[in-house]
Amino acid sequence: MAFGRGKVILVGEHAVVYGHPAIAAGLDVGVHAQARASADDRLCIRPWGRDVVADERSDEPLGRAFAALLRSGREGRPASPVCVEVMVQIPAAAGLGCSAALGVAIAGALDEWLGLRRPLDERERLALAWEREFHGNPSGIDTAVSLRGGVMWYRRGQAPEALRPACALLLVLVDSGQPSSTREMVARVAARREAQPALVGSTFDALGALAGRMREALARGDRDEIGRCFDAAHDGLCALGVSTERLDALCERARSAGALGAKPTGAGGGGCAIALVGDEGRAGRVLEACAAMGARSWLVEVGR
Ligand code: MEV
Repeated sequence: MAFGRGKVILVGEHAVVYGHPAIAAGLDVGVHAQARASADDRLCIRPWGRDVVADERSDEPLGRAFAALLRSGREGRPASPVCVEVMVQIPAAAGLGCSAALGVAIAGALDEWLGLRRPLDERERLALAWEREFHGNPSGIDTAVSLRGGVMWYRRGQAPEALRPACALLLVLVDSGQPSSTREMVARVAARREAQPALVGSTFDALGALAGRMREALARGDRDEIGRCFDAAHDGLCALGVSTERLDALCERARSAGALGAKPTGAGGGGCAIALVGDEGRAGRVLEACAAMGARSWLVEVGR
């Protein structure tokens, strides 16, 4: 059974598309996939009730992405038809890297089926062929962290770097309940960059500098400073126009309930926010505060 992790971005989403550094962490939950013989190439995503045939010309992005991944993955090998069955543990369109986790798990299942031990970077290339069908211009951060896990420093075009935080981070993940499309949000930021190059450029620079500040705070195990970096990153995401009133309100509520800092995570426009908490007692208060606002939330630990 192959696995692709979900992820949270701690700092630097959107700026990372334009070459600035970002930090992401892998989750313990994500997507499992397994391949078996079949009459035709098909992808079956059980919890979504989706069963699609691989077809590069399909109007259906899942069918196109699966066909792109199979074409890349089978290069020069005999191709008996395969069905990949998928179990998804994380919400889609919520900023938790569901589509990258699907790509990583499906690429892994294909390798198991073909009996291959493809090197990590080749498997990454395959999973990116999938991801490109969903996002016109992915930086690659979601796929990189889904494949490797841990806490990662990522800069587009460079090898990802594993960070060793001096403390684990307890995060409350809060789902705004508003679905969001990464493709649309990345396009929206590109349009804003076109219209307001100075503002967006200086916001990207500030987010890149924050990534450096957070990296140092992680190395020292300074949770208060990491929380301040979350809040400053939230301001940056507001300046890019990717937060929403609901995400802002959830972050504010989490802070009043004792979070050290909070921010949207992933593409924004809805999806999830993350709130850093110092201990399980505060986590309980933040979880209750989110529930009082009708938001689903849960506790995860990253950087152990
Ligand atoms: C999405 O999880 C992160 C973005 O920066 C897009 C990307 O890096 O590909 C919004």
